[in-house]
Amino acid sequence: MNKTIEKIVSLCKRRGFIFQSSDIYGGFSAVYDYGPLGIELKNNISQLWWKEMTQTHENIVGLDSGILMHPKIWEASGHVGAFNDPLVDCKQCKARYRADEFSEDFNSLDWTEIKCPNCGTTGKMTEPRQFNLMFKTHVGPVEETGTEAFLRPETAQGIFLNFKNVLDTSRVRVPFGIGQIGKSFRNEITPRNFTFRSREFEQMEIEFFCHPTDSRKWYQFWRDRRWQWYLNLGLTEGRLQLREHHQAELAHYSCGTADIEYAFPFLADGEYGELEGIAHRGDFDLRSHMEGKLVREDGELVLETDSNKKPKHRGSGRDLSYFDDVSRERFVPHVIEPSAGADRAVLAFLCDAYHEDNVPDEKGKPRERIVLKLHPRLAPLKAAILPLVKKDGMPEVAADLYKRIKKRMPCM
Ligand code: GAP
Repeated sequence: MNKTIEKIVSLCKRRGFIFQSSDIYGGFSAVYDYGPLGIELKNNISQLWWKEMTQTHENIVGLDSGILMHPKIWEASGHVGAFNDPLVDCKQCKARYRADEFSEDFNSLDWTEIKCPNCGTTGKMTEPRQFNLMFKTHVGPVEETGTEAFLRPETAQGIFLNFKNVLDTSRVRVPFGIGQIGKSFRNEITPRNFTFRSREFEQMEIEFFCHPTDSRKWYQFWRDRRWQWYLNLGLTEGRLQLREHHQAELAHYSCGTADIEYAFPFLADGEYGELEGIAHRGDFDLRSHMEGKLVREDGELVLETDSNKKPKHRGSGRDLSYFDDVSRERFVPHVIEPSAGADRAVLAFLCDAYHEDNVPDEKGKPRERIVLKLHPRLAPLKAAILPLVKKDGMPEVAADLYKRIKKRMPCM
């Protein structure tokens, strides 16, 4: 069977799993809508994730933070300065690429020798320049400096900001985790491969706070645990791999990351695409949001600024350290972050489940059909009620059965 992404996209559209956004207006690039079957599948995935995290673990609690947050957060988190992709353009045909598509070590490439994959011209490529991936918007009626805000590019920061709130209001102690599912937004330069890289997508993230000396142990725990989750839900082990990032690849906050990757059908043989990253973030985030100093001015607490009115320190100035009342030790917890994409999980489960087979029709002629071999817990529909005859009260019996079953599970 030749499993291609074109076949998956076509099935998704025909059967109401996933549609291109704004279809009747010609489509809107890199945004997708989930149809009746798609949303059931996606909900099953995210609900199973939520249950696994917040019910199976005694020390993980949930959160739902805002998409819009104080713009200073993105400075402290490093996203304003470092959440960039290197961008190159072909001056001949105007095609645009991420420089790292040509080589991971793109800074040492001689761009005048590079051939444009689209028009084939050599020597017309620009040097790489950094492009920030955050979507900007304005809060309030006037668009001016000072009203700028960003759509969150990850749900993680909402969790760090609420670390103290959760700690002070729940019966949790380090080690503990906070989980969140929600939309994130990135102005991807080269969105492609259907929902794999889109501009609006859903993340399922845990920030797990632990003692610095235990952090390696928890990193290993989460790598194993998350790997097993995909296997338990039926993903083919031979199409999965766990890959440790090398030093140059690490995000600005990370001191170790492992990706769980899947061999998506749009990739060449032997290539894998990221499903989920498990990152050891150290104390980068809590420390960044802490490191600032609040001073009182005109009766109000404000961040201390220098002579140019720029904050002297980048964080909030709030103490985000943890006091362990048993060991009597104060420390800034380290964080292990399993961060999964719900849309990529949907895509991987769909690709994995896709099968073509031939069953003879009533006349014995082979009839090709597509079968989705989804794990029962993921299947969007759990049952179908199909009356075989339209007489002897059978349609009424079927309708009654359908009504009763539908209250308990999605069926048709
Ligand atoms: N808080 C860490 C973080 O956001 P990431 O590796 O940038 O890490 C985590 O994103 C997960 O979010 C990825 O493994 C992927 O599943 C999903 N994701 C990231 N960018 C995406 C995009 N443009 N489209 C769809 N899913 C995306």
